[in-house]
Amino acid sequence: MKGFVKIFTYGCQMNDLDTQKMYSMLYEAGWHPTEDLDQADIIFLNTCSVRQKPYEKVLSNLGRLKYYKERKPNLILGVTGCVAQQEGKDIIEKLPFVDIVLGTHQLHKLPEMIQKILASRAPVAETRFEECIPLMDVIPAKRFLDPAHRAYINIMQGCNNYCSYCIVPYVRGKEISRNYKDVLNEAKTLADMGAKEIFLLGQNVNSYSGGITFADLLKRINDVEGVERIRFTTSHPKDMSDELIGCFANLEKLCNNLHLPFQAGSDRVLEAMNRGYTQADYLRLIEKLRKAQPDMAFSADVMVGFPTETESDFMDTMHLIEQVRFDVLFSFKYSPRPGTRAALIPDDVTKQEKERRLAILQTRQRQITIENNRMRVGKIFDVMVDGISKRSKDAVFGRTTHSVIVNFKGPQDLIGKTVKVKIERANPNSLTGVQDGL
Ligand code: 5AD
Ligand code: SF4
Repeated sequence: MKGFVKIFTYGCQMNDLDTQKMYSMLYEAGWHPTEDLDQADIIFLNTCSVRQKPYEKVLSNLGRLKYYKERKPNLILGVTGCVAQQEGKDIIEKLPFVDIVLGTHQLHKLPEMIQKILASRAPVAETRFEECIPLMDVIPAKRFLDPAHRAYINIMQGCNNYCSYCIVPYVRGKEISRNYKDVLNEAKTLADMGAKEIFLLGQNVNSYSGGITFADLLKRINDVEGVERIRFTTSHPKDMSDELIGCFANLEKLCNNLHLPFQAGSDRVLEAMNRGYTQADYLRLIEKLRKAQPDMAFSADVMVGFPTETESDFMDTMHLIEQVRFDVLFSFKYSPRPGTRAALIPDDVTKQEKERRLAILQTRQRQITIENNRMRVGKIFDVMVDGISKRSKDAVFGRTTHSVIVNFKGPQDLIGKTVKVKIERANPNSLTGVQDGL
């Protein structure tokens, strides 16, 4: 063993997976994970720059880590992910205590870079956009799957959509899909490792182009022995083909759960965002999906206060929320991201107004979420058990096909199994039940 490593993760599930891969690559090279910063010989921040808030958090946390570097000069301090891609060597110039900056397409070189730094102690910044396939091909080691029965697979990277507010195409690059044979082999390997739920990841999974359509990829994964559940994220409404919608009716392992960001409800704002659909198009899609699978549960991303958004535009967003009745809504205040087209439009909705709109939206959404949960009381669902409940040692928690969390009394050895649970109570963000038949 060479020493200890701690990686902090910010942002999306893609970053969570990249962190698992980083731990796996470093473990193989002799670096073991630790939660103790005093013990760590390597500390990484795997970062997100999609909104201003996580971006600022990264910078302030980096400042705090300087303390550890002063106490332990041999500590290797690094930045990876989207902030690394965006800022490159500027990070090392501004914060000279940082040793390594690795962009989104260079992460697979991590062990090699660490060796280089150990040999020379000179800071390195690598942000070239080149092949990102090698990173996608890294399979996280079993010990880093959390929980052990859920495995994430990168099927594509990057985005070609250029929504006007979004920095992703600039920091994650052009869309690149992995060949479907590699994805299938990985699904089989993970299933052999004990993974029962396969979660496909990409910035825009439903524009997948790795040799077969995304719907066909789902069909093939549905046939992999050992896999019990399939989920995926993120999808773009403009790429929801009828074939894909049909999968929710026909593939028994595909969960009844779709994350479909709509971002805004006003057609004028949607156009300014370059989203490529109207509110009516979005609602039609939801209707089609519900027709294919009446028990669908939806989640989405939305933002308030896009430049020029009026009260009436905001009301269109509220209307859409009333129509769809999402289970989960990730809602944000718009923040300009440098280099994007929207950043050129004056950010004219005041902070107070953004906060007011966000509070109205979130208050209403909280009601809808609990109303949806109440509709589930008395029903019996298959729950895949994820872990021991945080509140009680004698209880466990898991997820329904809708991805709603259910707590119920049960032993630890249920983890990884799927059991029938009768729902007795709806909570703001979860359900409580009893194992059926006991
Ligand atoms: N301001 C606020 N929210 C943003 N998002 C992306 N860019 C911005 C921005 N500039 C949100 C979108 C996206 C989610 C990951 O982050 O809702 O779906
Ligand atoms: Fe960003 Fe739009 Fe691409 Fe999503 S689809 S990553 S919001 S540019």
